[in-house]
Amino acid sequence: MALYDNIKYVGVNDHAIDLFEGQYTVKDGMSYNSYLITDEKCAVTDTVDAYFIGEWLENIDRELGGKAPDYLIVHHMEPDHSAGIKAFAEKYPSAVIVGNKKIFAMADAFFGADAIKNRLEMNEGDTLSLGEHTLTFVFAPMVHWPEVMMSYESTEKILFSADGFGKFGALGTDEKWDDEARRYYFGIVGKYGAQVQAVLKKAAALEIEAICPLHGPVLTENLGHYIALYDKWSSYQPETDGVFIAYSSVYGHTAKAAKMLADELKKLGCESVEIADLARSDMAENIANAFKYSKLVLATVTYNSDVFPHMRTFIDGLTERSFKNRTVAFIENGSWAPVAVKVMQKKLAECKNISFAQAAVTVRSAVNDASAEQIKNLAKELCGE
Ligand code: FEO
Repeated sequence: MALYDNIKYVGVNDHAIDLFEGQYTVKDGMSYNSYLITDEKCAVTDTVDAYFIGEWLENIDRELGGKAPDYLIVHHMEPDHSAGIKAFAEKYPSAVIVGNKKIFAMADAFFGADAIKNRLEMNEGDTLSLGEHTLTFVFAPMVHWPEVMMSYESTEKILFSADGFGKFGALGTDEKWDDEARRYYFGIVGKYGAQVQAVLKKAAALEIEAICPLHGPVLTENLGHYIALYDKWSSYQPETDGVFIAYSSVYGHTAKAAKMLADELKKLGCESVEIADLARSDMAENIANAFKYSKLVLATVTYNSDVFPHMRTFIDGLTERSFKNRTVAFIENGSWAPVAVKVMQKKLAECKNISFAQAAVTVRSAVNDASAEQIKNLAKELCGE
């Protein structure tokens, strides 16, 4: 697939995968992107997942007509992009593997110190000339591993952005970039907002006309939209003024309270309200939604003097990703000793700039007039009335 006269796509689609990184459902598969720059010197950027090395090498062969590439540029050592390094080095022994100090340390650990014989180590800001095309290396530690670097090609004005600006889903699938990129972002690099901010600052100094990530489509239009989303996500600012209600319920009474709150919010004119049963929905999407909306409501039964397990997993998913800058409200249920609000507030105590709603709701087994009134009061507070 040609992106430009001299830049081709040689990556692969994975429709067989069940869980990306062993945990994320990807109903539309994944792509592992690899690009080929043909110039006086030919460079391949990154490899693919282990199951697709044969297909990837065939793609390179086909595009080069059997000629050997001169370079393999490694931006990231996670195995979904690096598994083919050894096979590449064996097939093209004259080719030089381009990385950085941390990349080569990881490559040696994965493949053994003898696997890469020809290596070229880059530092921040170093350049590699291929002829008309020149790559400048931009280090991006913790986006998403410590060795990650991006590269900027100054003739076509392309940023090879490693995992940055990637998304779940194979190429050619018809799904909204924002939703699957948000789920991917908060799943994969949500914890590392400060590091993403640092890279965005470096990228702001570059004139970028296309972004070539390691997953998902090449971005060529409306780049400001994607960059603005990344800026918002990585600075932990909400994307939408609205309410996300996440609940875990055993016999349906807590679910009923959560749904009553959603109805009350809509009655009061709050249009952006989303609600999810944590036991029956995608946890990565729920975590992404908590970051998407400005307000979060946590509704759960009390369970073993704690919260229900799905709620515990959800809150852990937020705190380990530096959840901050939000309003959080609570609904608890308990037939004999409701303590869930206290437990949830304790779990969120380390999060920065979180304000707890004043109006908490306590359901005693089932919603009654008193708790229904509390729900109405909470809706009013969340709507700013
Ligand atoms: Fe797509 Fe961090 O690897």
